[in-house]
Amino acid sequence: MIVRPLRLAAILGTFVALTVATGVAQQNPADEARLKNLDAGPKTIQVSQYPADQQKAYKLFQAKCSSCHVIARGINSDMVVPAEWERYIKRMMYKPNSGISSNEAQTLFRFLVYDASARKADLLRKALAALPAADRSAAIGRVKEINPGFVAP
Ligand code: HEC
Repeated sequence: MIVRPLRLAAILGTFVALTVATGVAQQNPADEARLKNLDAGPKTIQVSQYPADQQKAYKLFQAKCSSCHVIARGINSDMVVPAEWERYIKRMMYKPNSGISSNEAQTLFRFLVYDASARKADLLRKALAALPAADRSAAIGRVKEINPGFVAP
């Protein structure tokens, strides 16, 4: 079958418009599957044992981190190291209409690091142990500043 150039251009144009509109333009299938998996996990965090300020921050997390995707995505992420969360929250904050102020970003950062140190402590210890020595001690310092009870690897 011969596809005339104009028609081909129209088909390609539609495809590009669709991928851009649905926001999947830069996502490969592996990423998509990974995100789907995170989104399908638990939707709540048991925070009754968390300090009062972190229980309050959980409410902010529920409000701010569920406007573009389901809250489960943040809850089930395997990001645990402070620098990872710092970079990620900045990235979310700078997305158009994120509705996250820099003050709120700071509170959300502290919550996500506290939560990683409490709920995902083994994963966090494993990630810390894999860092180069200098980065590891800095990262442990940042975690302990937020959760002094954290037992470092
Ligand atoms: C303005 C919209 C928006 C807001 C607000 C937002 N996100 Fe996202 N988030 C996205 C988009 C879009 C993606 C997928 C593409 C990407 O990673 O940029 C994503 C992906 C993620 C991922 C998956 C990262 C990965 O690839 O493993 C996590 C975890 C996440 N967000 C957590 C959060 C948390 C925590 C908050 C609150 C601090 C938040 N998001 C707020 C839009 C948003």
